[in-house]
Amino acid sequence: MSDVNDYLNGRRALFDRVLAESLPPRETPPQIIHEAMRYAVLGGGKRVRPIVAAAAAEACGADITPLLKHLAALELIHTYSLVHDDLPSLDNDDLRRGRKTTHVVYGEAMAILTGDALLTEAFSWLGEPLPGVDAARQLRAVREVAVAVDSKGMIGGQAADIEAERSELSADPEALARLLTFIHQNKTGKLLTVSLLLGGLLGGATDVQLAQLSAYGKALGLAFQIVDDLLDIEETAETLGKTAGKDIEQGKLTYPALFGMEAAREHVTILLEEALRNAAMIGGPVNYLGAIARYICERRS
Ligand code: IPE
Ligand code: IPE
Ligand code: MG
Ligand code: MG
Ligand code: MG
Repeated sequence: MSDVNDYLNGRRALFDRVLAESLPPRETPPQIIHEAMRYAVLGGGKRVRPIVAAAAAEACGADITPLLKHLAALELIHTYSLVHDDLPSLDNDDLRRGRKTTHVVYGEAMAILTGDALLTEAFSWLGEPLPGVDAARQLRAVREVAVAVDSKGMIGGQAADIEAERSELSADPEALARLLTFIHQNKTGKLLTVSLLLGGLLGGATDVQLAQLSAYGKALGLAFQIVDDLLDIEETAETLGKTAGKDIEQGKLTYPALFGMEAAREHVTILLEEALRNAAMIGGPVNYLGAIARYICERRS
């Protein structure tokens, strides 16, 4: 475990640096939006999406150095989704990554614009020419990212999450379970899965490896959100750096709410096994995908 912790800490520091160096400087006019963007992105966070993307590229034998800014773009998309998720009209949260949320500090209008700006900035980074990567392959990768976070992907999941919270739910347990899986696979699973695909596509993965990365990402993406649901109940705001116990309070449709804590944990174990199976099949000279999957499922924050 200490081995993987060292690896994760190193990668986190690496991506923190890339993000700090690549975001527009705070003095860029209008200063307020660039300050808010830097506040939202640079205030901590596990950096899981760029880290799994880099691990995927590395498992395929790539040198990740030329890819870092492109992989870091995933963190801009993720952070934009958090800034908007925390808005008063969505989850209405005032704590994120151990600090006040962006809308609390900069106001709601500026927080909406910060999200807009981060999403747009991400695609500008993803589209930067990459010598050594086939342009058609890069174009495919950029499109895959866009599709993963569009209204049939991450935003669709967020829309279904909000709708489920605010409307009468079906009494049919199977229909509810299907809706819950849809929400989790889309709001969280799709960005995680495409992170692996981005790393694989830019890192020279074979078609077989891409399919394995995708299966790994699908299992891990769902597990990631179930663990997030469990931690919301089991942990404190201090440990999480965000409000705890809010899913029950807001009537969110979650795995523990629908199936209970124990069944939710069991589901994570099954998904972890599926992720580990695929991680092992990908092989590669340096393969941290299995260790990362364990970390994601066993994390406490
Ligand atoms: C939280 O994501 C939101 C979900 C998609 C569950 P993370 O747990 O990755 O949050 P940070 O980036 O580490 O703050
Ligand atoms: C957030 O899910 C998913 C996205 C932002 C796309 P949650 O609403 O459960 O995330 P937290 O618990 O606020 O981090
Ligand atoms: Mg939410
Ligand atoms: Mg939320
Ligand atoms: Mg949550």
